[in-house]
Amino acid sequence: MTDSSVLHDTRAAYDAVAPTYAELFSNVLETLPMERSLLAAFAELVQADGARPVADLGCGPGHVTAHLHALGLEAFGVDLSAEMVALARRAHPHLRFDEGSMTALDLADGVLGGILAFYSIIHTPPQHLPVVFAEFARVLAPGGHLLLGFFAGDDPRPQEFDHKVTLAYRWSPDSLLDLARQAGFTEVGRMLREPYAHERQFQHCQLLVRKPGNP
Ligand SMILES: C[S@@+](CC[C@H](N)C(=O)[O-])C[C@H]1O[C@@H](n2cnc3c(N)ncnc32)[C@H](O)[C@@H]1O
Repeated sequence: MTDSSVLHDTRAAYDAVAPTYAELFSNVLETLPMERSLLAAFAELVQADGARPVADLGCGPGHVTAHLHALGLEAFGVDLSAEMVALARRAHPHLRFDEGSMTALDLADGVLGGILAFYSIIHTPPQHLPVVFAEFARVLAPGGHLLLGFFAGDDPRPQEFDHKVTLAYRWSPDSLLDLARQAGFTEVGRMLREPYAHERQFQHCQLLVRKPGNP
């Protein structure tokens, strides 16, 4: 499958479910104390490095972008799906949301203090992920932080799974870290948790990495 056909299919799949997705997930952070703690740590680390903007890439309906804004960050969202971007703008009119792909961001080199990719790289085929990580490294300032949220597994090879919206992949944290390292990132830390009763039976991982250098 080519990069453009994957992007086309992912966009169409999320356009089709956007209102339902927003209804189901817009308040999900209220039920995720461990993820909230990682987002708070991410915000604090980014702020300690200066006042650069933070991009929530694959932001969906914008609830996590709004959470980052509430934590004091200059946060904006980018999503492939025009329907998701429209919902995000409607729900959070005070924030900026752009349509775009994390494979080719419309951002200058080194402008961001942080990137959040919260369950959005899960749809990127493993062979396309180096392009995405290179793009993240390009737009982050030296010292910038990248927080990756994803479904985890033990197998060192990424595993396809039948995600409800469209084809997705789960990763072992170490394998994903290897790819991030190839793009120049170094690990800051990670949080791995077991699924809650209402979730499907995959572990959840938040992996925090950093681009080397002084901000
Ligand atoms: C599982 S949803 C997560 C949405 C949101 N981050 C959340 O936590 O609810 C995945 C989102 O990533 C977006 N996405 C997938 N591939 C993308 C890409 N290449 N560039 C930008 N957004 C992408 C989808 O359109 C979708 O809104």
